[in-house]
Amino acid sequence: MPTVTLHEIESLAEQESARHHHYYIGVEHLFIALTKLENGLSNAVLESCGLEPRFIRYSIRQVIGVNEDRRYWPGFKLTPRARKIFEKVQYYAGIHNPSERDLLLAILDEGDSIPIRVMQEMGADIEYIRRTASNWSTRSKSEVPAVTIQSNVPLSDDERKVLQRMFRNYQRIEVERQLSGGYTAARLLVVRPYQPHRAEARVVVKIDTRSNILYEKRHYDAYVKDTLPPTTARLLDNPALPEDSLLGGLKYTLIQPSGSSDPIDLSSHADSLSGIELGSIIQTNIYDVYAEGWWSQRQRYRFGVWREYEHILPPALEITLSSSQYPVADHVLEPLGTWSRRNTIQVGDTVELRHFTVQKIRPEQNTLQVTAGYGPEAVNRTSKIEIIGLEGEISNYHLGDVIESLFGIVQRTREQILHAQVEQLSPPFDISADSIYGPESVGTLPNPLHHVNHLLDRRLSGYLSIIHGDLHLANILIGPAGDAWLIDFGLTREGHTLFDWATLEVSVLATVIAPRTPNGWEGVWGTIRLLKMINQNQSIAHLRNPVTDALDALRAIREIVGKNLARPNLWSEYYIALALLALRGLSWETTTSIDARRLLFLTAALAVQAADEAESSLIGSDVTRDGFGSQIDKLSAYDIDISEEDLD
Ligand SMILES: Nc1ncnc2c1ncn2[C@@H]1O[C@H](COP(=O)(O)OP(=O)(O)O)[C@@H](O)[C@H]1O
Ligand SMILES: [Mg+2]
Repeated sequence: MPTVTLHEIESLAEQESARHHHYYIGVEHLFIALTKLENGLSNAVLESCGLEPRFIRYSIRQVIGVNEDRRYWPGFKLTPRARKIFEKVQYYAGIHNPSERDLLLAILDEGDSIPIRVMQEMGADIEYIRRTASNWSTRSKSEVPAVTIQSNVPLSDDERKVLQRMFRNYQRIEVERQLSGGYTAARLLVVRPYQPHRAEARVVVKIDTRSNILYEKRHYDAYVKDTLPPTTARLLDNPALPEDSLLGGLKYTLIQPSGSSDPIDLSSHADSLSGIELGSIIQTNIYDVYAEGWWSQRQRYRFGVWREYEHILPPALEITLSSSQYPVADHVLEPLGTWSRRNTIQVGDTVELRHFTVQKIRPEQNTLQVTAGYGPEAVNRTSKIEIIGLEGEISNYHLGDVIESLFGIVQRTREQILHAQVEQLSPPFDISADSIYGPESVGTLPNPLHHVNHLLDRRLSGYLSIIHGDLHLANILIGPAGDAWLIDFGLTREGHTLFDWATLEVSVLATVIAPRTPNGWEGVWGTIRLLKMINQNQSIAHLRNPVTDALDALRAIREIVGKNLARPNLWSEYYIALALLALRGLSWETTTSIDARRLLFLTAALAVQAADEAESSLIGSDVTRDGFGSQIDKLSAYDIDISEEDLD
């Protein structure tokens, strides 16, 4: 084991402190420095105690946060506790040079510090870690044998590393199969771990990029662990995050109906259910069971629609980088500005982007996505701009980096991107006109693409609660007793309560109702006519066919929405959410049929109309004065969470 000097550790701690703009050295910075010594004793000790150094580091950073104040401060002062620790290090070292081990022991002895609390929250036994550290010898590490991995599916080296780390205390594991059904790039594996003489229960391993894994874990801890009933996929252990891999993994309990060896999610199961049955699962097994912890724990708030919904739409702009730096660009754009929902920027305009954060990197496509901040929180992902045609330069960018300044030329606006998506649906109407002329039974609908910016710019009164954030049918599983279980908490957050229900309605439309709809635009218009009747609360009971049957599931969702409207009977709050979430579906080219996307587009048109009608029918009543005037604006709860280099 290479020996590091205390001085080297101190300078790592200073770097850590500087990047949080702290300008002092506390125990937390020292401990993070220890976890950054790749082949260090601390990491070996922590790992052998079942703790993940990278995860500890991440969690400490979450606790200490970034100081907004970026002014220069000469020198780094030791906090009193850090000073005490250094005195102890000297004492332990005696006549020798102080070592990494001396520092680790001194920190472990000091008690109630942030790193200690973070590790205790992970279930660590600090006394045991201390004993392991003081007895540690260089040979200890090689005593942990590799786990034998038998697999029925191909695994990459990085995926193997994650499994090695996750199951290090087992003799062998068998990767039985892989699950499909998710819409992200995550890999889901069913794994059976074995100890020498017995097999243990199968688990589901979710492997994804480190950042996604860390976010899912953090959101699970914050919003799921203590709030939801037992019918929730349980996260087992802390995430596995090998230092030398870009991937990480989470371990969940496997959920499957009794008697079956396959999990069933509602999107693949919905076909065999009647609309009434599906509706009753949604109402009884989802809403009634989880509302108490989530949707019903809510507060009123006023919000700009863009804060909750802009991130689900295509980027506000698509630009190419410009090699020449103009002294002045046509537009200087900052994150969270109003530019992203106004029609003032044209194709060919030059723009300067200031202080945008790298949110996504797609090397295969040579594109980069920059946004207001970093992470999956809605507001962080607003002000989205796609930078295209990057070729070789792409390796200069890293997730979470804040780019001070960048010049580009506008290639497409969001409206044009949406237009192109609708063009792919071969619309029999003029998509650049203001109105869409449907069959007589439906009449004229507004072109939703011409309303996007206006909708985003509106302010609404609503409820703020914990929401699932991705409540579609494939994230609801049928459990052993035929009950419904929620999974996939990567986007769980505090947000607009109706976001979940509009998401679920779009999911039901795309995966249950569209397949039952007769083909082509004509069939789609037929379903739209029924939806219009539902919006207007007319009975469709006399029109029995597979579509009307499935629409009973929507009625259940609408009943739930009715209970969660901020202003009773002011349905525009919901229709605006529905219009924007339905438009998101236009981009699901690879997973969603053309007819399903046609249905979503017209659903958006219908929703824009319904929002309008809901409001005009209430003109003159007190509702138009728009609720909660005196309530505090909750926007301050949405501080941007820029965790620049949380992941290195
Ligand atoms: N704990 C689990 N038990 C059984 N099946 C699961 C479990 N977790 C995920 N799956 C299956 O894998 C699919 C994808 O998992 P999910 O966590 O939703 O990942 P993604 O983020 O890719 O959507 C799910 O739709 C479901 O079919
Ligand atoms: Mg999912």
